[in-house]
Amino acid sequence: MQLTQEQMDMLNGKYGDGTAIAMKIQVGIGESFGATRMVPITRAHVALSNQEADLWFAEKLLNAGAKCRIAPTVNPGFCLSYFKNAGMVSTENADLMQRTHNAYKNLGAVLSYNCTPYLGSNIPLFGEITAFSESSATPYINSVWGARSNREGANSALCAAITGFVPEYGLLLDENRKGDILVEVQADMKSDFEYQLLGYMGKKIGNGIPVFTGLPKRISPEALMNLGAQLNTSGAYAMYHIAGFTPEAPTLEVAFGGKEPLRRVVITNEELAEILEEISEPGNRKIDFAMFGCPHFSLNQVQEISKLVEGKTLKAEMWILTSSTTKEMAVRMGIDTIIERAGGHIVEDTCPDQPCWNHLNGKIGVTESPKCAYYPKRRGINFVVRNLKESVEAALTGEVR
Ligand code: F3S
Repeated sequence: MQLTQEQMDMLNGKYGDGTAIAMKIQVGIGESFGATRMVPITRAHVALSNQEADLWFAEKLLNAGAKCRIAPTVNPGFCLSYFKNAGMVSTENADLMQRTHNAYKNLGAVLSYNCTPYLGSNIPLFGEITAFSESSATPYINSVWGARSNREGANSALCAAITGFVPEYGLLLDENRKGDILVEVQADMKSDFEYQLLGYMGKKIGNGIPVFTGLPKRISPEALMNLGAQLNTSGAYAMYHIAGFTPEAPTLEVAFGGKEPLRRVVITNEELAEILEEISEPGNRKIDFAMFGCPHFSLNQVQEISKLVEGKTLKAEMWILTSSTTKEMAVRMGIDTIIERAGGHIVEDTCPDQPCWNHLNGKIGVTESPKCAYYPKRRGINFVVRNLKESVEAALTGEVR
């Protein structure tokens, strides 16, 4: 790889050991992907996970003197004050979160603790070169905003934030952003929920960049968020196109760059129903709690729940996970009060895959997100998956159909 003098100086330690470690890792990544140079970035998002390995890496760079040149936004861990006050977290796990907070703070990150930065706090422009990790974030910024990022890991995105550069390969290059697989959607996409199920068809869609056809003319930001999040739960996708909708796919021909698709896949209503059955615990049972906001709920989604529960009382506990800015807006608008009165909670900065939920081990929840149902399984927490209205209804009655 050809490095500039500044990049060579970073590699050789002129900017400190932490920056040298970050650059060394990036040069290794670049060489393994055949990159010939490094290019500057203007934004980054680090999918911090608040797990031991994530903390080890962040502290290693910090202790070696690293500081972010490009302040990255970061993913959720859990809201220390909420879970400590509620007595839901052990001292050991609270310490882990506190150390994660300290490490990223001292590295110079934007402590957003939110996994949907592309809807508010970190929105790139068309063509902007960035380093984004996080399952729904990378496909959203590539596909919907037309910005450029490879499917970074939390660690490589942090290295990029520290050096301010990324190796140029993959989706940073025009020729690698064309579609590979034609996905003809014949299913009825009635609500944002069907995009959760469509995204979970990764096994059938297979490797490559999918180009979707047959989708409605208007698709909500939340539906696109769901699609990306679930594509990266059932598979690995940094980008997709929607013919006639996303910016690099004004037509099918442009989306494929004049090539023939490698594969053609058809998705029907029956297949969406089958995938729902596969990912969900069986219905017709009592549930212990409801959890929404994986990925973090938008203000629209929080408002939708408030309308469904206004003046009623929940039989099951309900948590709605969101960003601190959405939570603040919900407080200002009185939405938070409506939900609290019904017995639910809007919780900021928090992800379902965190030790703060260990007390739910052995319990059954309801959610509208297959991703929310997938990750907490390893903590012994299982979910029935239903659309948002049915899930809220289940929380109100304590039973799911
Ligand atoms: Fe976000 Fe955590 Fe879900 S990072 S997408 S809330 S698993």
